[in-house]
Amino acid sequence: MSAKTLSAGWTSIGDAQLVLNSDQQVVIDCGDMQVQLTPFANDMVRVRVVPTSQKSERGSWAIAKEQWDLPPHKYSEDAKGITIELADFSIRVTKSPLRIAFLTPAGEVINQDDPAKGMGWDGAQLRVWKEMPQNELYYGFGEKTGMLERRGLAMTDWNYDIPAYTPATDPIYQSIPFFLGMRDGKFYGIFFDNTFRTSFDMGKESDRYYSFGSDGGSINYYFFYGPSPKKVIERFTELTGRMNLPPKWSLGYQQCRWSYYPEAKVRDIAGNFRSRKIPCDVIYLDIDYMDGFRCFTWNKENFPNPKKMVSDLANDGFKFVTIIDPGIKNDTTYWVYKEGAKGNHFVRNGDSSLFIGPVWPGNCAFPDFANTKARTWWGTLYADLVKVGIRGFWNDMNEPSVFDVPTKTFPLDAVHNVDGEKESHAEIHNVYGMQMARGTYEGLRRLKPDERPFVLTRAGYAGTQRYSAAWTGDNVSSWEHMAMAMPMCMNFGLSGQPFVGPDIGGFIGAPSGELYTRWLQYGVFLPLCRSHSVTGSINKEPWAFGEEFTKINKKFIELRYQFMPFLYTEFYKSSTTGVPIMRPLMLEFPDDKTTYRLDTQFMVGGDLLVSPVLEAGSTSRRMYLPKGEWYDFWTREKISGGKWIEAPAPLDRLPLFVRAGAVIPMQQVVQYTDQAPADPLTFEIFPSAEANGSCYEDDGISFGYKKGIFRATAVKVSVSREATTIKMIAARGSYLPSKRSVVFALNGVEQKPKVINVGSEQLKEVGSLSDAAQGWSYDRELHRLSIKLPDSQTGLDLSVQ
Ligand code: GLC
Repeated sequence: MSAKTLSAGWTSIGDAQLVLNSDQQVVIDCGDMQVQLTPFANDMVRVRVVPTSQKSERGSWAIAKEQWDLPPHKYSEDAKGITIELADFSIRVTKSPLRIAFLTPAGEVINQDDPAKGMGWDGAQLRVWKEMPQNELYYGFGEKTGMLERRGLAMTDWNYDIPAYTPATDPIYQSIPFFLGMRDGKFYGIFFDNTFRTSFDMGKESDRYYSFGSDGGSINYYFFYGPSPKKVIERFTELTGRMNLPPKWSLGYQQCRWSYYPEAKVRDIAGNFRSRKIPCDVIYLDIDYMDGFRCFTWNKENFPNPKKMVSDLANDGFKFVTIIDPGIKNDTTYWVYKEGAKGNHFVRNGDSSLFIGPVWPGNCAFPDFANTKARTWWGTLYADLVKVGIRGFWNDMNEPSVFDVPTKTFPLDAVHNVDGEKESHAEIHNVYGMQMARGTYEGLRRLKPDERPFVLTRAGYAGTQRYSAAWTGDNVSSWEHMAMAMPMCMNFGLSGQPFVGPDIGGFIGAPSGELYTRWLQYGVFLPLCRSHSVTGSINKEPWAFGEEFTKINKKFIELRYQFMPFLYTEFYKSSTTGVPIMRPLMLEFPDDKTTYRLDTQFMVGGDLLVSPVLEAGSTSRRMYLPKGEWYDFWTREKISGGKWIEAPAPLDRLPLFVRAGAVIPMQQVVQYTDQAPADPLTFEIFPSAEANGSCYEDDGISFGYKKGIFRATAVKVSVSREATTIKMIAARGSYLPSKRSVVFALNGVEQKPKVINVGSEQLKEVGSLSDAAQGWSYDRELHRLSIKLPDSQTGLDLSVQ
């Protein structure tokens, strides 16, 4: 036996004894254990360690792409070890003891096993120890409280219902065992695909090594080499799947509360939005719409005619999202319970009796979402709500959460039937919520094949973005929580889930008008923009804090709708690359050390920089502008970056900057996303010597875009001494927006221009652009030149002199 004792109870992997190289993988026999190295791509390899006796491979819940064109690798072996060379990096395995290192083509170590510890076991527990260089930093880890950068912290992944969590609480609702490691701006990623309770110790135990491990399953991790962080995230989300483009309305403002009822209250909330002209797309119905918290039923007293309510308010642009929890009331007269019991769809105890636990409705049975038949059945249950006109579904309590037991969840030995194979809850726990969201998503696809589903989930695992958006659970109305939502959402995004947001204003507690406004002010730039609050709390609608605040809240919600073409374009891009919409600055500026721990500011896409005000009573915000030129969004003033600035921030101002060189598509204010098409579609141009940008559009709801029914419009601007040229390039895709105007708004124009030509035709200056079909006007104060023209599918060529 070559296995060595590591420390009390722990056995090490030992030495490599036999190596087998094939086209697909390199298999290294270490006695009891076998190490399999499978290069999936030139920048990605899987490291799997299984008992030599184990023949079959467990499927993965996370992996979306199973088939890869395995890249050719160059293999060499000597007495000390083996080397596998890929185009982007190489893998060096030393034989005695077995240790794995990942190297750049130049031979520098990117990441390597800790020389003393390597990989080891203690009973069912397993762990990997990695060397931890002094200057290495860590990001990602899914949904985590506290700060953006995670060095020195230990974390656990075990989905957990924990209202009013604090910056020190861990774990919380979701588990995504993925992180990015970074040294001097160079990134790698590790995805530990293990659904048992896992843990990461990023230097809490020692500053010499970090480690990750689990209570069960096997060592099974993917290593990704960047060196750019975006490349790591692109590859990780190619593997685990990307967000499907959501319906456009779900990017609108969303209003929630536990709970709006009866119907008159719902109509009153909707009426307030419209009469105050505060834009809103979505109203949520929390658990009280149900009959005794029975999912898929209505409380007839409070909602005598839900279909009429939904359709009346749909005429006014509102979409409804209703909550659906996993707990199905243990009531033999309730149709969902009856169907579930008859179909054998519920989770069982170790002794095969039905597992029953209390949640909102009292004692409940719980669907076994790990089972395909149960998931399919679950999907059918939405039929009636869909018929009523409910547009989206909110899957809550799916950690799963159970009341009145210390563990707050199922017993670890509860049994899931994974399509014939029995697996313990210990193994399924972390994917239960994800599989619930999957059952919901896939069910909706079947019920309405032509409509993009909107699902919002509280619990999840790696890859959940394929089915659902996510929110950060039961937060608190405090300045601390308002600030913490930023790093939380950013790390979520780095971990593959881009469609995220907190309960704006805070769920538990009573925010001051100032706190609510400051939160909403930056909340309108979050991917998910939803206000929510707990039962019994004060009102937290945008008008609930008095006129002064209402005015500002309205202005910022309007701003979200003005930015809608930009936001939708960023959603589209994220759905194709996996790179998050909301980004920490280090993702855009990996060579700028000041950004590495900056978690009080964020970027939307690559060009918009948001710096929320995080303290009561502030009228300015000290913030960092990375290197390069920037425009203040409000004054259109050009400022050089690479320094800290004090940005003015009275209550009605959010420090907002645009990177020079950007073109941002914007539109007029509407009361809901589909009230009217963008007209004019305005390209706000913030030039440096050049500016580039694009706008993605489609019908906002169907899958037609997958067949080319979209419009992608690119705008290219170049500035020289003689003239500025603006080119709108012939649109890609076959989607035809209705007849409309486009405006090119050129910022930073010091003087009123002399001549503006479109092709060979000279354009006229006009007093007011809004009344003219075409022409231009110049704003001396903002140094902004606006040029209006009828839109064109075939492109436009402008020159400004
Ligand atoms: C949970 C959810 C919260 C919801 C409440 C009632 O606490 O996290 O958002 O309002 O349950 O359904």
